[in-house]
Amino acid sequence: MALRSTRDSQILVIGCGIAGIGAAQKLIKHGFNNVHILEATARSGGRVRTGRLGDNIVEIGANWIHGPSKENPVFSLACNHQLLDEESMSEENQAVDIGGHPMFIPNWFSSSGRKLAPETMAPALEFYMNLLERSQEFYSTGEEPFPSVGEFLKAEVKRLTPEEWKEDRESFDLRMAMANTLLKLECCVSGTHTMDDVSLGAFGMYKTLPGLDCTFPRGYEGLTDSMLKELPKDIVLYDKQVKCVHWNYSKNGTNTEGTSFPVVIECSNGETFAADHVIITVSLGYLKKHQSTFLSPSFPPHKLHSIQRMGFGTNNKIFLEFEKPFWDEDCELIYLVWEDETHLDDVVADIKTSWIRKMTGFTVLKPTERYGHVLCGWIAGRESEYMETLSEDEVLHTVTQLLLKFTGNPTLRPRKLLRSQWFHDPYSCGSYSYVAKGCSGRDIENLAEPLPLKGSDSKPLQVLFAGEATHNSYFSTVHGALLSGWREAERLVAHYTPASGSVSSKL
Ligand SMILES: Cc1cc2nc3c(=O)[nH]c(=O)nc-3n(C[C@H](O)[C@H](O)[C@H](O)COP(=O)(O)OP(=O)(O)OC[C@H]3O[C@@H](n4cnc5c(N)ncnc54)[C@H](O)[C@@H]3O)c2cc1C
Ligand SMILES: *[C@@H]1O[C@H](CO)[C@@H](O)[C@H](O)[C@H]1NC(C)=O
Ligand SMILES: *[C@@H]1O[C@H](CO)[C@@H](O)[C@H](O)[C@H]1NC(C)=O
Repeated sequence: MALRSTRDSQILVIGCGIAGIGAAQKLIKHGFNNVHILEATARSGGRVRTGRLGDNIVEIGANWIHGPSKENPVFSLACNHQLLDEESMSEENQAVDIGGHPMFIPNWFSSSGRKLAPETMAPALEFYMNLLERSQEFYSTGEEPFPSVGEFLKAEVKRLTPEEWKEDRESFDLRMAMANTLLKLECCVSGTHTMDDVSLGAFGMYKTLPGLDCTFPRGYEGLTDSMLKELPKDIVLYDKQVKCVHWNYSKNGTNTEGTSFPVVIECSNGETFAADHVIITVSLGYLKKHQSTFLSPSFPPHKLHSIQRMGFGTNNKIFLEFEKPFWDEDCELIYLVWEDETHLDDVVADIKTSWIRKMTGFTVLKPTERYGHVLCGWIAGRESEYMETLSEDEVLHTVTQLLLKFTGNPTLRPRKLLRSQWFHDPYSCGSYSYVAKGCSGRDIENLAEPLPLKGSDSKPLQVLFAGEATHNSYFSTVHGALLSGWREAERLVAHYTPASGSVSSKL
């Protein structure tokens, strides 16, 4: 049978997050005009999601462009669509290289209701940040003295704590408690329950780009919206919950007039769609949860193993609005230090009664002229998943008690609260991916590998995989997701480009 031309091949993208939108954008640019996106919900953007807290815009999902500089495609798109402010676009801003850990100006509060002196905390912060930096070095050396980042950090804190710190018992205990605060915050960065689950050998796979992380003054969703506006109207079919992707299909597909399609997509409302190629961009969390039913025939064993073993955890935000600030005017990040936690451990013993202990950091929304006095609390792991099951009032009550304790101010009351619930979101099933203990770059390659596998004599490239978790150096980010969508679109473009080259770009 002769190949149908590029223009005619039917391509379906599952998921209208940035990876799906990026894939569709690139395909259309290369002349494919039978492209549609099937989205489970009534909205686009996925984990790029802008919400409201009173009059303020807040980001329920992605907040920053990590590494906003020329190489970052999200930054370029945001500039082209004029979605950033002058400062974020400046050459100076792009040149700053923070290596993934912005140095926010901190305030420290302790569980005895004291504001802690920066002189006590600064040396400990530096010590800890150094260790964290070192934990990223094992990827290039190929060694792995411990199986996880958590185990490495705990051992190194014990081994390397300066002797003179031990002379003053009280400040020693505070510094250890502070390391615990930072360890829990690191769980938010990695989107994991505990750093004991994060592979030490692969921790350095995650690459950073230069540029001082910036935000979208009018909301991150402006980016996905602008990208969609440039695509054909009606390219997205909303409220289409894909239940099963039937591939290697021998029967005739539906919606066809005599042509047969290798893939048929079945939605939960019974609708079906036939296609030559499908690009799946659903989250790794969704794949884990629906691994036995989402694909028929099912995933090949090595791909299934990687889906099961790779990390996908929860990180949530709790936004709080205050009448007036209890933090310093220049403060960008508030740390809470539990004085009784002098033993390094990022897991809370009794989640039901003490889940709030997992939330040890708040970023301050800036600039104040825009937001007023709004904090964003960060909480990861199973404690965070438990928090999602509580009512908003219960969360507000518990957070208020926490802040009374740490500020020693009995009249402190947040005015408003808004929290994310990414774990219970049925189409995200968590926040983002990480390379779990025992996993390596090979697992990410497995996730991204198209079906049928190479060497099969069935029609090639029936099912392709994109999404944040399939990018081997920018996983867990918006730019990683976007690049993965482009990558799979380009795979199809290359497939339809004659080996002699030069045709497809003119289509
Ligand atoms: C709290 C939080 C904070 C973050 N902060 C940042 C940040 O500051 N900077 C950064 O770069 N990244 C951040 N991220 C990560 C970033 O948001 C994601 O990596 C990125 O948005 C993922 O895009 P995606 O297209 O791969 O997946 P998604 O955005 O999840 O898109 C997948 C789409 O598929 C749909 N879908 C799922 N199942 C089905 C189905 N069965 N049928 C049809 N459709 C389906 C979903 O509804 C969704 O629209 C954050 C994420 C979270 C949760
Ligand atoms: C695909 O179909 C062919 C022919 O029917 C069959 O031999 C092969 O095993 C199928 N592949 C999978 C993964 O089911
Ligand atoms: C598909 O259906 C048409 C008629 O509806 C038939 O002529 C054709 O042979 C079928 N193809 C396959 C592969 O079953």
